[in-house]
Amino acid sequence: MSIAGIVQESWSRPVYNGTAVTRETLLTLLNIAIWAPNHHLREPWVFTWMEGLETGTEKQKEHPAESPILAPGYLAVSMKIRTKPKELAEDEAAVWCLIQNLRILAKEQGIGIHIQQPETAFEAGCEELWRANSGEQIVAILGIGYTDTRLQPNENAAKIIRERRTVRQFTSATLDDETVRGLLEESLPELGLQPKSWRVIEAGSEEERSRWADLMMGFAKDMLTYKLMPGKVKNIFWKRTYDIPFNLVFVLKHQPEQPGEPKGSAHFGEVCSVMHIIQLLAWEKGIGMTWSSSDVIEDMAFRKGLDIKPDERIIGILHMGYTAKIPKGKERTPAENKIRWV
Ligand SMILES: Cc1cc2nc3c(=O)[nH]c(=O)nc-3n(C[C@H](O)[C@H](O)[C@H](O)COP(=O)(O)O)c2cc1C
Repeated sequence: MSIAGIVQESWSRPVYNGTAVTRETLLTLLNIAIWAPNHHLREPWVFTWMEGLETGTEKQKEHPAESPILAPGYLAVSMKIRTKPKELAEDEAAVWCLIQNLRILAKEQGIGIHIQQPETAFEAGCEELWRANSGEQIVAILGIGYTDTRLQPNENAAKIIRERRTVRQFTSATLDDETVRGLLEESLPELGLQPKSWRVIEAGSEEERSRWADLMMGFAKDMLTYKLMPGKVKNIFWKRTYDIPFNLVFVLKHQPEQPGEPKGSAHFGEVCSVMHIIQLLAWEKGIGMTWSSSDVIEDMAFRKGLDIKPDERIIGILHMGYTAKIPKGKERTPAENKIRWV
């Protein structure tokens, strides 16, 4: 099965068959999932594994739509709390990328993952996990267990997750909007349905990229280093920005919290998951990208230039193109050193 197929399957709710994953299997999956992108290699994730809960299979069969679903094991994915909101958001985004990796890898093995917000998992009897270590916050609690659906394994999934790199050098080949829209479409949780809580802005045509480069330069203008730059260097900067074949801006709309509806963090998680899936699907096609969380995303003039509404927030930008050079991957800390067994 193609990665796109696994991704689509992975969004559906699992029906556990009662068999728990072993610690060894969990670690094998996690040690691939940790190759998720994460800014400044902070590797913000911390895991807590709790197993041996009564399986919820019978209850689930009786009330399949009932939430929460009980799983044979639960993995709390937490992160260190940071004082700077920007770093906190970057770290949470990285954790969602890791969760997405894990979901894909697990699905291929017939292991189902159900993502629960900490609040609902608490109801499922995960009080132990609920207590995050001091200085940490739980991003999501994942119900994990075997299901009866096993997909046609695609060894590519692990290889792509492991080998994907942040690409900063692109060829001069055009990346057309049809290809980018195709990637976006395939990464959506509900195929063919436009997301309600977020939207994307494209800058890929010559005209859009020229405006894009102007906007980026507008942001740089206030920086001292820019002011000191000779005009020639400024032109090089403009051209370098213009030359990025495609830019995709992800914008989250503020969602008032409603009882029974997903909370803001779930919407944030969905955007980050989609951004990461795009990276994985693109990798197969030789398209590389950099996820940018530069300060520009909060700049008022930049936001105005993109017509971002006051209740909207830019989550990140994907700068993309056909890969010219793949950087070497930097080692990750083994999952064994980041997991607590309960
Ligand atoms: C939320 C998030 C924000 C990021 N922001 C930037 C950025 O502003 N500039 C940049 O060059 N890379 C950025 N990156 C990419 C990381 O620096 C990169 O993932 C990390 O160095 C690990 O390299 P790898 O992706 O090749 O494994 C970001 C990644 C994430 C997940």
